[in-house]
Formats: sequence, C-alpha cells, structure tokens
Amino acid sequence: MKSSVLFKITLVLALVVSLQSCSDDDEDVKQEFVADDSSFSNFMSWKLEATNQGPDPALGGAHAGNDESVTRKIYYKDGVSAVNGEFPVGTIIVKHSSNPDQSVNEFTAMVKRGNDFSPNGGDWEWFMLNADGSIATDPSSGMKMRGASLMNGMCLQCHSAGSVDYTFTK
Ligand code: HEC
Repeated sequence: MKSSVLFKITLVLALVVSLQSCSDDDEDVKQEFVADDSSFSNFMSWKLEATNQGPDPALGGAHAGNDESVTRKIYYKDGVSAVNGEFPVGTIIVKHSSNPDQSVNEFTAMVKRGNDFSPNGGDWEWFMLNADGSIATDPSSGMKMRGASLMNGMCLQCHSAGSVDYTFTK
C-alpha cells in the first residue's frame, strides 16, 4: 500500500514537471522529425492535393515535367497545410511522376525535418523513393538518396522559387 502511494506521488510529480517543461516558452528547444522507410508507406492513400499533366515551363526536365505523357500526382500526409507561411515539423509530401508505358516512374519527397537541419533551405530534407515508399539507394555510391542538398542542391535550388515555404502546390 505504502509503495503504491509513493508510486502515485512520483507519477504526479513527473506529470507536473513534464507539464511545466511543455509550457516553458523556450525558443531554443527545437523539434526534429527524422524520416525513415516507414514514414512514406501507403503515401498513395494520403490526400491527393494536385494532379498535373503535361509540360510545365517551371519544371524544364525536372520531375519529367517536359514530357507530354507524364502525370504528376502530389500527396500531402494528413492534408497538412502551412501555418503563417510555414509547414510544421513532420510535414511529408510525396510526388509521383509517371506515364502510361511506365518509362517514367519517379518518386520524390520532401520532409520538414526542423532543428536547423538546413538553415538556408527551410529545414527541408529531400528524398528519392522506391515505389513502395522506402528510401531509394544510389546504385553507384550505395548511399541513401536523402539530404539537405540532394542532387547537388538542385531540389532546393529550384524549390526556393516555391510560393509557400519551398513548395509549389498549396
Ligand atoms: C526545375 C525545378 C525543380 C527541380 C530541380 C525539382 N523540383 Fe520538385 N517541383 C517543382 C515544381 C514546379 C513543382 C510543382 C508543380 C508540379 O509538380 O507539377 C514541384 C513539386 C514537388 C513536390 C510536391 C510539393 C510541391 O512543391 O508542390 C515534391 C515533393 C518535390 N517537388 C520534390 C522534389 C525533389 C526531391 C527534388 C530533387 C530530387 C525536386 N523536387 C527537384 C520544381 C522542381
């Protein structure tokens, strides 16, 4: 009996401490979301925010955007939206570019990682994925295709022109 009372007191104290740390308005405490393979699973059931077809002058050759036959589908996990022009840490967006004969079948993604991961790039991490949503591996280097400057910084460079927080769609 005595030990269970002690246990309850400890529990209450722990709760008070954790509540206090939550209400602590400490700007230095930065959130971070580090994506793994499971983060992208079933992305095709997420909210489809755009279906773009045909060439887009803003794209050039990126995302197979200069190919008449290609459809580009853009999925936002939980249909998340930007708040005051910025997406929350943990935001995941996947884009699938494909055409009927499957000669194009490309999966790209961006994840709001936070925690000063990419201070000059909105803290976004860029990804190439496999069809099942797992993170692709570069066949030549054996490295996972992810990072703040994926494709020699091309993702970030082009997305800097995005209308909302490095994004184009919404
Ligand atoms: C030449 C410019 C350009 C480059 C390079 C580029 N993108 Fe995009 N991206 C766009 C445009 C424009 C859109 C939205 C229009 C569309 O897809 O039809 C877009 C859309 C996206 C989206 C959907 C969210 C959004 O912004 O609307 C993701 C995810 C994405 N790109 C990831 C990547 C990744 C990862 C890379 C690098 C491997 C990359 N992009 C390289 C121009 C670019």
